[in-house]
Amino acid sequence: MAHSSILGIESSCDETAAAVVESGETVLSSVVASQMSTHGKYGGVVPELASREHLRAIVPVVREALERAGTRLEDLAAIGVTVGPGLVGSLLVGLTFAKSLSFARGVPLIAVNHIEGHIHAVILETRRASGAVEFPALALVVSGGHTHLFEVREGFRYRLLGKTRDDAAGEAFDKVAKLLGYGYPGGPVIDRLAPFGNPEAVRFTFAKMKGNALDFSFSGLKTAVLRWVESRNMAAEIDRRRALLRTGAPSTEEWLAATPAATLDLLASFQHAVITELLTRAAASAAEIDARAVIVSGGVACNSGLREAARSADLPYPVYFPSPGLSTDNAAMIAAAAFPKLERREFSGLDIAAQASLTLA
Ligand code: KG4
Ligand code: ZN
Repeated sequence: MAHSSILGIESSCDETAAAVVESGETVLSSVVASQMSTHGKYGGVVPELASREHLRAIVPVVREALERAGTRLEDLAAIGVTVGPGLVGSLLVGLTFAKSLSFARGVPLIAVNHIEGHIHAVILETRRASGAVEFPALALVVSGGHTHLFEVREGFRYRLLGKTRDDAAGEAFDKVAKLLGYGYPGGPVIDRLAPFGNPEAVRFTFAKMKGNALDFSFSGLKTAVLRWVESRNMAAEIDRRRALLRTGAPSTEEWLAATPAATLDLLASFQHAVITELLTRAAASAAEIDARAVIVSGGVACNSGLREAARSADLPYPVYFPSPGLSTDNAAMIAAAAFPKLERREFSGLDIAAQASLTLA
């Protein structure tokens, strides 16, 4: 069995992660070092700081993943590493380290696309829980960097059906939260506060889009929130929340005490609009390809409103979400995505480059 263990390494954005996964389905270890505290005060990821933090974390994180799994480097069948898309300086840290290990220990290297990793977070868990995901499947990858719809066919062949034309959905959560004084990342806090507001209170209209009806757009929504805020006198409450943020990580009760009902309604309505946009196009895409399953993955897949809406939509196919720990960036998903490539012996040479704008299809 030791021969099918893969070490996954992920450093495309602001988490340094390593994991050991056996046979593409058993997570022996998964370690994630988050840089949240570094970037939080800037309201977003600062690329230079991210590279520096990856450099600091990569050696201990990989060592811990191997130790927790009880796996030695020489027992590994392969090292799977994210080569893109992402911040090039961040990708380079994980990739260079993976290459060095591969070279020093003679372990084959497997290049993994980060987006394919997110899809495999679900494949991995479903395989363990209920057998396999049926194909063709529709994958909605929705995170801080991506909002994409893919058709997934047998053998993990992908076709792009739609994507965002401007902001990613997670980016919209982050920008709205920052604007309103809730800090970074915005998704988790809006998710916690939205149930306290009325999702029908503020009506957001979406611009009709020309071209591909399966494409998303979130910048109009962000601008609508900005206009809503500008047309009201909100400076004092926003300042109050910024001050609260400086005291540490506020609890839901503390946020609620600093958020008037009208702002809770705004948050609930904003989240509701994002969820509607995501699920409407996902359902249309699933119908178009006659999907037998839908996979939702990426950081925004943590959103409880989105999970609840998908559950209660009573769709004619199963909708799979990863457990929250596998929704946001991690390396178990990278090791899992590398497994079919190991079976096909799709190895990479040491000359493989980091690709900031790598696409999946
Ligand atoms: O997958 P991820 O960790 O990194 C990228 O590949 O981008 O996703 C991070 C994104 C952030 O934009 C964050 O605000 C969003 O996922 N996010 C959420 C939730 N948790 C994280 N968005 C909505 N609801 C959540 N519960
Ligand atoms: Zn991601």
